[in-house]
Amino acid sequence: MRVARFLFQKLTRVLAGNGLYLSKSLNYKQSPAPLPINFDYVRYATLGLCFEQLVARQVPGNVAELGVYQGDFAKRLNQLFPDRQLYLFDTFEGFADQDVSTEKASGFSTGEQSFANTSVELVLRKMPHPQQCIVKKGFFPATAADVDDTFCFVSLDADLYDPILEGLRFFYPRLALGGYIFVHDFNNDEYRGARQAVTEFCRAEGIGFTPLPDSGGTAVLCK
Ligand SMILES: C[S@@+](CC[C@H](N)C(=O)[O-])C[C@H]1O[C@@H](n2cnc3c(N)ncnc32)[C@H](O)[C@@H]1O
Repeated sequence: MRVARFLFQKLTRVLAGNGLYLSKSLNYKQSPAPLPINFDYVRYATLGLCFEQLVARQVPGNVAELGVYQGDFAKRLNQLFPDRQLYLFDTFEGFADQDVSTEKASGFSTGEQSFANTSVELVLRKMPHPQQCIVKKGFFPATAADVDDTFCFVSLDADLYDPILEGLRFFYPRLALGGYIFVHDFNNDEYRGARQAVTEFCRAEGIGFTPLPDSGGTAVLCK
């Protein structure tokens, strides 16, 4: 079992290092752009397959990430969708005090991890198509108040219960038919608010989702 896991990991790293990802037909396909070296294979490969579906089904809309930090996942989104605008929602100063208060009071997480070591400039420097980026710096959902758009793909990676629930409430109604929302940390014991937000929202709205076995766990919602 251990040998099989080792060989699988080795194989996926070699393939990804060459810019390849697993396609729907179980063939390996050339990715539109090279993948990062320290990537999460399951998360990035699933994104690649969802991207294929969005293109094949001509799903309209722009792309967004809530929880950008240093922009590693956002960079991949910007690579994959050069023709679509990419909204980047983050304080770019780490967690907001009011979200951390809810986390602590609810026992979801300590909220103590710092994501303050970033900046808008650092993130934009990484982007292959920075002209497509719309930076929404500050506290979400306040920063979404003037956003009137439709989305084909949204990454919710804010870690904490309040912003994830607000993210689902804001983006799901604005998701195009056939669009996807990835919610990171669904299976992360260090951030239990993510699972709570997804479970609560999906139950209330009668929506299904697919949990991924990636690092931290991602819940994938498709409209
Ligand atoms: C885990 S990091 C994101 C990681 C990133 N997606 C990546 O690929 O590396 C979580 C981010 O969510 C942001 N965040 C959390 N709550 C927020 C809120 N209410 N408004 C804006 N940003 C928030 C934090 O500032 C932090 O940068």
